[in-house]
Amino acid sequence: ASTTELDISTLEAGQAIVTEFRKQPVFVRRLTQAEIDEANAVPTGSLRDAESLEDRTQPGHEDVLVVMGVCTHLGCVPLGAVTGENKGEYNGYFCPCHGSHYDTAARIRKGPAPTNLLVPDYTFASDTTIVIG
Ligand code: FES
Repeated sequence: ASTTELDISTLEAGQAIVTEFRKQPVFVRRLTQAEIDEANAVPTGSLRDAESLEDRTQPGHEDVLVVMGVCTHLGCVPLGAVTGENKGEYNGYFCPCHGSHYDTAARIRKGPAPTNLLVPDYTFASDTTIVIG
């Protein structure tokens, strides 16, 4: 069993980094306040896969979103995480393979993907270090 340890001390709001876990990409993003507000403004019950931003982050670290960079439709790598381009219609992630749009909390909002981008098991080893797996 392997884990991935990541230093996020230099990760600023609006920035993301891509790491790898079990040979798959993981997007780690520090959300801006606007992105947090956008996520929290959506009634959870209206979502295909009903989860709040709080459900998808760790207590005290609601600004750090850690998701697998694997579209839940057929496994393509969504765009939007790092370059900030091609974020889709909901300002988060966009999978170009068949057009799935994810929001700022990486929740599926439009297109064929059945569920939100998966949040892997991870913990904060310190305020600036996360351990995935
Ligand atoms: Fe992403 Fe089909 S694999 S929309």
